[in-house]
Amino acid sequence: MEDKDVKKESQNHTDVKIERGNPGDPRIIAFVCNWCTYSGADLAGTSRMKYSDNVRVIKLPCTGRIDPLFIVEAFKKGAKGVLVSGCHPGDCHYTSGNYHSRRKYATFRDLLGYLGVDLDRVEFSWVSASEGNKWVSIINEFTDKIKSLPGKSTDIFTKK
Ligand code: FES
Repeated sequence: MEDKDVKKESQNHTDVKIERGNPGDPRIIAFVCNWCTYSGADLAGTSRMKYSDNVRVIKLPCTGRIDPLFIVEAFKKGAKGVLVSGCHPGDCHYTSGNYHSRRKYATFRDLLGYLGVDLDRVEFSWVSASEGNKWVSIINEFTDKIKSLPGKSTDIFTKK
């Protein structure tokens, strides 16, 4: 898949209406890798674990494939929080995609801050296929954290 195809696919995903869930709950977009975190989230679902339903999961092959601009796009579309999650270090199915991802985001966080994004609204985590419980905890805690933050989604880009 070429860069332009991935970008178009991501735009299609972030174009989905994110108004489902309880009215007033913050909309959260989770970019996850197919192999670990998506499987962990799937395990949580098939195990009938309860967690906030305000999260829209966007599955990509690997966290190393997630373009940082996807995060900006998600905020522009009204998300109030963005989560990126993939395989634990050493477990990436493409050997080192998660290491590339971690390095990319360490730098990209500074740019997000420069754009005026409240960095408390972006979170990164590692969830394996067997960690349905961890996925539930991360989603519930992140949702509570976003709810406690002041401001609306339109306040995210604060720089004038
Ligand atoms: S395949 Fe999961 S982070 Fe690379």
